[in-house]
Amino acid sequence: CQAASVPANVPDMGKRQLLNTLLLGALSLPTVGILGPYLYFFVPPGSGGSGTGLVAKDAIGNDILVTEWLASHPPGDRTLSQGLKGDPTYLVVENDGTLAPYAINAVCTHLGCVVPWNKAENKFICPCHGSQYNNQGRVVRGPAPLSLALAHCDVDSNKVILSLWPETDFRTGENPWWA
Ligand code: FES
Repeated sequence: CQAASVPANVPDMGKRQLLNTLLLGALSLPTVGILGPYLYFFVPPGSGGSGTGLVAKDAIGNDILVTEWLASHPPGDRTLSQGLKGDPTYLVVENDGTLAPYAINAVCTHLGCVVPWNKAENKFICPCHGSQYNNQGRVVRGPAPLSLALAHCDVDSNKVILSLWPETDFRTGENPWWA
């Protein structure tokens, strides 16, 4: 039989495969270490297929880390970050204390003022001409003609990643006017 002809010092297939696996692992670890940063550069986090994700920045330009953000922003909070194209963008903390999967562009759809969050009224109220938006940025009073734009908000390696929102506006069921 075949097995009898194999010399005693040759490891059986199980051991050889194990050795090969270990050897491959040992070789690939430095490769990953060397190539990893390059691959990371070409595949930005949070791209999710759209390829347009960027890390949200706080008021002084630091990357926003979700654990720190949620530790200092209570449920219901809406605070501005620097978002896509540098637009002021609200990160939304849901009532359960998690970060919402959407962020709200703060640029008023009337004439472009930055719309502040009014916690007492639970609305965004534009100081320029009085437009109002509900707590998700849906327009509820003119003269603003449209709701505030949305962005996707995801977490990758503890960083908050904003990316384009080309899908249906979940607040209105309509196509996004900003896409
Ligand atoms: Fe906001 Fe006119 S710019 S209401």
